[in-house]
Amino acid sequence: MRGRNTISHAIDVSRPSVARMYDCFLGGNDNYASDRRACAELLRIAPSTRALARNNRLFLQRVVRVLAEKHGVRQFLDHGSGLPTQDNVHQVAQRVDRSSRVVYIDNDPIVFAHGRALLDENDETAVIQADIANPDAIFGHEDVRRLIDFSRPVAALFVSVLHCLPDGSDPAGVVRRIAARLAPGSFLVICQLTSDNAQIRAETTEFMRQNTHGKWGRVLERHEVDAYFTGMDILSPGLVEISAWHPNSDVTPRQQTHEWIEYGGVGRTR
Ligand SMILES: C[S@@+](CC[C@H](N)C(=O)[O-])C[C@H]1O[C@@H](n2cnc3c(N)ncnc32)[C@H](O)[C@@H]1O
Repeated sequence: MRGRNTISHAIDVSRPSVARMYDCFLGGNDNYASDRRACAELLRIAPSTRALARNNRLFLQRVVRVLAEKHGVRQFLDHGSGLPTQDNVHQVAQRVDRSSRVVYIDNDPIVFAHGRALLDENDETAVIQADIANPDAIFGHEDVRRLIDFSRPVAALFVSVLHCLPDGSDPAGVVRRIAARLAPGSFLVICQLTSDNAQIRAETTEFMRQNTHGKWGRVLERHEVDAYFTGMDILSPGLVEISAWHPNSDVTPRQQTHEWIEYGGVGRTR
């Protein structure tokens, strides 16, 4: 019987995958006809999704740079890392300090395959195939144990991934269980798709569930994301639409939309 956390190693290009759709929206080459078709249909429901994906990636890069430069973070666990693209987490972090360590975690076999090819010559990084809803598999993985010193602060990244977890996987509980294993003074970076509009929440959630054959969770309301940060100190500028988080000249025009937005920020554990 296939368990909830069973990982498939087969790449099925006849159905869209979240990782390949995201790659398509970012203008990458690691996507297939099924992904491109799904992206075109999604743009009809939520036309700002391409800009949203780009803003999300730029947020990830800014957040890693700020954590490395201003907060001295040298260890990163990137949950739901996505396909390698330009300026991946280890490249941003290692520009600040060459010895920075990064473990990429994703359940999509294509991410694992492409990630390993990219990281082949980098001793400070690894990519593992695991379900983030199964923290034991992550924390027990030999590459995680080899690279990450859990007596020191870590940045645990959950950038645009928690909405992929069905409610039954208890995304908030996953965040709590992972945070509990990190040294005090660690950082949690969380952003996810939200909308104030109930119809948009319902339509986009239904579309993604159908197109990923149920491998998806839900578009949340902002207060539900706020709850992920309970018990943590929130870094300035707080929980925001992410293009407003330490914006710099790379940021595409602020998202002015009534569709879905990426909302979140950074919390520090006590
Ligand atoms: C929208 S992409 C975000 C990629 C990257 N974090 C970023 O923001 O640029 C979401 C990624 O999460 C991965 N993912 C979805 N559910 C997951 C799960 N349960 N465990 C691990 N990875 C998951 C997908 O395969 C995909 O690569």
